[in-house]
Amino acid sequence: MTDGVGARLRPGLDSASIGEVLRLSTEHLALKGSETPRLDAERLLAKATGLQRIELYMALDRPLTPPELAAARELVARRARREPLQYVLGEWGFRRLTLTVDRRALIPRPETEILVERALALVAEVDRPRVLDVGTGCGAIALAIADEHPGAVVTGLDSSADALALAAENMVRTGLTVQLVQHDLFPGLPDGPWDLVVSNPPYVDTLDLPHLQPEVRDWEPHGALSADGAVEAVVRGAAGVLAPGGAIALEVGAGQTGATAALLEELGLAEVRVTGDLSGIERVVEGRLR
Ligand SMILES: C[S@@+](CC[C@H](N)C(=O)[O-])C[C@H]1O[C@@H](n2cnc3c(N)ncnc32)[C@H](O)[C@@H]1O
Repeated sequence: MTDGVGARLRPGLDSASIGEVLRLSTEHLALKGSETPRLDAERLLAKATGLQRIELYMALDRPLTPPELAAARELVARRARREPLQYVLGEWGFRRLTLTVDRRALIPRPETEILVERALALVAEVDRPRVLDVGTGCGAIALAIADEHPGAVVTGLDSSADALALAAENMVRTGLTVQLVQHDLFPGLPDGPWDLVVSNPPYVDTLDLPHLQPEVRDWEPHGALSADGAVEAVVRGAAGVLAPGGAIALEVGAGQTGATAALLEELGLAEVRVTGDLSGIERVVEGRLR
């Protein structure tokens, strides 16, 4: 709130109520291009005050204390620069977990929760499945599988030391145990055999990067968004390290499922299936080694 909101709040700065700050923050964030200004303002003010969102509405007339106002100003100013809400909050929910998120790794997306759903289904009948998460980022997929299939023995790999450091922090935060390894997926995947290789690889075409929304383009690591040939490399690599009857599950970009499914079939995988995301767009491809 360094400009618009700050200027308008300044005369009554010490007496600004929760309701006023919510309203002015919402207007400011809308002006700065947020697609969800009210929700953002609520989440940020909840963080600044330590209240739940619902509690804000029960205390709309309560004045913010000076430290709360300073915190709110700082958080809203960050979001107004189009820093993703998740990075500003510093944590985000994924499946049953709350994970630390920051610029070291991609923010876990809702569609990736569907990938985890399919991954869990593929190993539901295996007591102690050996699972490899390729491109683990903040550890979301690996940790969610460890959480929801307590018998799973999960390894998360990534080429980014920064991402792995964040995944290690999330391991401590969640109290779950997975192996984390630094490994480049292009030369091949670690020897299994794996009962499941799961991956949300970088799948944005490099040429599309400049056209992404500012929250993604300017804040998330480009190496997590785009690495040409990564989807094919994961599929080919996985096919060579799966246990008999082992499965692969991948999230890919809109429009990429057909080619990915065809590649799985070409490599001899069976039970090839495509699942849509919450908007009905086909996003998850899976198959099983005969
Ligand atoms: C789309 S992000 C997925 C992050 C996380 N699994 C999720 O779903 O939120 C892709 C991940 O692949 C990693 N990556 C990119 N190139 C890689 C490579 N050559 N070898 C291994 N990992 C790579 C990135 O660092 C990033 O963490």
